[in-house]
Amino acid sequence: MTIQKVGVVGCGLMGSGIAQTAAQSGFDVVVTEVSQELLDRGVKKIHDAWAMMQSKGKLTAEQVEANKARLHPTLEMQDFADRDIVVEVIIEQKEPKLALFRQLDAIVQPDALLVSNTSSLPITEMAAVTRRRDKVAGLHFFNPVPVMKLVEIVRTVETSDETVAELRAFTQAMGKTPIIAKDTAGFVVNFLLIPYLLSAIRMYENGVATMEDIDTAMQLGTNYPMGPFTLLDYVGLDTTLYAAEVIYAENPDPAYAPPPLLRRMVTLGRLGRKTGKGFYDYSEKK
Ligand code: 3HC
Repeated sequence: MTIQKVGVVGCGLMGSGIAQTAAQSGFDVVVTEVSQELLDRGVKKIHDAWAMMQSKGKLTAEQVEANKARLHPTLEMQDFADRDIVVEVIIEQKEPKLALFRQLDAIVQPDALLVSNTSSLPITEMAAVTRRRDKVAGLHFFNPVPVMKLVEIVRTVETSDETVAELRAFTQAMGKTPIIAKDTAGFVVNFLLIPYLLSAIRMYENGVATMEDIDTAMQLGTNYPMGPFTLLDYVGLDTTLYAAEVIYAENPDPAYAPPPLLRRMVTLGRLGRKTGKGFYDYSEKK
């Protein structure tokens, strides 16, 4: 099977980026959200990105129209019935994801692939609730999806070689570079990235340096595009805390234990850019 028809369940930050990238790469894309309001917001984000690309000369008006024609927003799960692959990009909680995999397994054709963009939940548990365990995998994109080149293809002990080959071709057709990882908490990138981010928080808690200086150190000392606090705010402190907890539960190394400051900031709703305030204040800082 060659993937042509793509489904994306969830049109938030990551879902809209995946739907955008798939549609602008020539795939026919059905996308859904839990409400009309959230769906409209996600689709607007995609249309705004294409308008921005057109204004920069990266897309012609005709290409923007063709992209829009390939993007089909819906609130009807039955519209996923003819999809070759469905990418799950909903809330990072196990029960809603398992319920969605059960539902999709009953809706899509037997040879369709079901994949999850989860950053840390076990793909194996999602595979286990379906009747197509060989066709279930993780497909972990990075934020901002249209820009970041990497995709982690996460295979369980039952994911077939054919599924991995199809996912490799699919991600390459989207202009991405895939790597293959086993289904272990954090996969490759978050297993390495999360302890780095948590170490920066501990370093700040211990008064080693200011946040700004830690950011400057890593940006200028290692050429990282963002320092750890800017990246924490970009990724979201809730997402970081959740990923740390999941990895720590499977791998109880103190390097993955969430620092108290991270928990307290999440409790206060200081989640980063998306709430206007995280380690930095975005209402004042441009
Ligand atoms: N669609 C298309 N193009 C887009 C876009 C979109 N939605 N958003 C941005 N772009 C383009 C811009 O137009 C720009 O293009 P140009 O260079 O041709 O003008 C280019 O991308 C770069 O954007 P900006 O100029 O706005 O910004 P920067 O040059 O400052 O780069 C950044 C921004 C790419 C976010 C960079 O700072 C970066 O790489 N940061 C690190 C991001 C990172 O590490 N992400 C991974 C987080 S971990 C994760 O996601 C995993 C999860 O599980 C936790």
